[in-house]
Amino acid sequence: MNKTAKLELDGKVYELPTLVGTEGEKAVDISTLRQQSGYITLDDGYANTGSCKSKITFIDGEKGILRYRGYPIEVLAEKSTFVETAYLLIYGELPTANQLKRFSSLLTQNEMLHEDLKYQFEGFPAHGHPMAILSAMINACSCFDPELMEPYNPAIFELEAARLISKVRTIAAFAYRKSRGLPAIYPKPTYKYTENFLHMMFSEPYQDYELRKEVVQALDMVFLLHADHEQNCSTSTVRMVASSRANLFASCAAGVCALWGPLHGGANQAVLEMLKSIHASGDDGSRFIAEAKDKKSGHRLMGFGHRVYKNYDPRAKIIKAKCDKLLAALKISDPLLDIAKKLEETALKDSYFIERKLYPNVDFYSGIIMRALGIPVEMFTVIFAIGRMPGWIANYKEVMDDPASRIYRPRQVFVGPAPRDYVPIDQRK
Ligand code: ACO
Repeated sequence: MNKTAKLELDGKVYELPTLVGTEGEKAVDISTLRQQSGYITLDDGYANTGSCKSKITFIDGEKGILRYRGYPIEVLAEKSTFVETAYLLIYGELPTANQLKRFSSLLTQNEMLHEDLKYQFEGFPAHGHPMAILSAMINACSCFDPELMEPYNPAIFELEAARLISKVRTIAAFAYRKSRGLPAIYPKPTYKYTENFLHMMFSEPYQDYELRKEVVQALDMVFLLHADHEQNCSTSTVRMVASSRANLFASCAAGVCALWGPLHGGANQAVLEMLKSIHASGDDGSRFIAEAKDKKSGHRLMGFGHRVYKNYDPRAKIIKAKCDKLLAALKISDPLLDIAKKLEETALKDSYFIERKLYPNVDFYSGIIMRALGIPVEMFTVIFAIGRMPGWIANYKEVMDDPASRIYRPRQVFVGPAPRDYVPIDQRK
């Protein structure tokens, strides 16, 4: 039996139910507090707020644990693929061979974009950021299929989810080709998910891109490691939009916008830019570390720190190891990797970072892998978005399948002006 929390306010005691999650996470349910007492809770930035109950992903930030549907990320990274993991996240179980075959063939059947969408692509300026193009095009896609604009329908959800996962990769590759003034390369149904993405990015009409096993595996793993991360900024955004009963494409397009910011998915681009500028300035990283500790400098050590992880991000460990292997296999020696390692080594010994429990996060090394794969820096956050799509879709489905789900509507504490008189424009000072 769960305990009851007691809260004393204005001489009265209020009883609030508590609950414990499967991993022992404890929570006080304050949903009736305002009704009972007139008080709301204030939690700027939601650092101590559980916005939902979820069965998808578990994180223990203190211990550096990440599990999708109960499976440790390290195991999935070693044994699974992005497509299989996408199925796991969305449907809750690893697929059987037949389920995986069906899901993969749905992805293949839905890889093409409506031909008229090319006019939308043409409307963007060549230097348009691919994240802006991605979110706009995901929404535009749904205009070409009235079914997609309709509210959630479990009968067609499987198809919608596959459409989105498949098309986002085609849109991303087309956006990149457009930004380089290159002709779009159509997907090949014989290629698997990640192979097809690399093909659409790097093949030319006259020559197919050579698919190297280690390159395909590395990118597939990057997608997999990004596939979900519980109630982060973009996933909460997707759930927020979904809670208004917006369609899947609109909800996930909003997720793309939230992910774009440099404090979230945009950090992978920021990390690489930081490493490049350190390299260009001739610094080995020590000067930059000193700046990152000085609040007045306005600099942070990008790729370090996390709202939830107060330990090494388990994804960063996997990526760092993969990074070393990939660079060796491709015979690449990247000075930026040396700077990153030096920064990490210095920061992990520095009391500023130790006291604040700031460790490398997933973005710290992912940029170096993507650079080795030939992916341009402005596409880094797009790669993150392709990877995160199954997590967003799984969260969308969880909101929609919950019969008790209500529109998300936080409250606020108003600290603005008290009522005042309207002053006509000619009398204002
Ligand atoms: N470099 C230097 N100092 C930092 C850093 C950093 N990267 N991150 C946090 N700090 C300091 C803060 O200045 C603050 O110091 P103070 O207590 O002396 O004021 C303290 O550590 C706590 O930082 P907050 O900003 O309160 O932590 P919060 O949980 O709000 O932010 C965040 C987390 C946004 C990830 C932050 O660590 C950061 O900006 N990191 C760099 C950007 C980044 O890598 N983002 C990717 C996150 S992972 C992802 O989205 C996939």
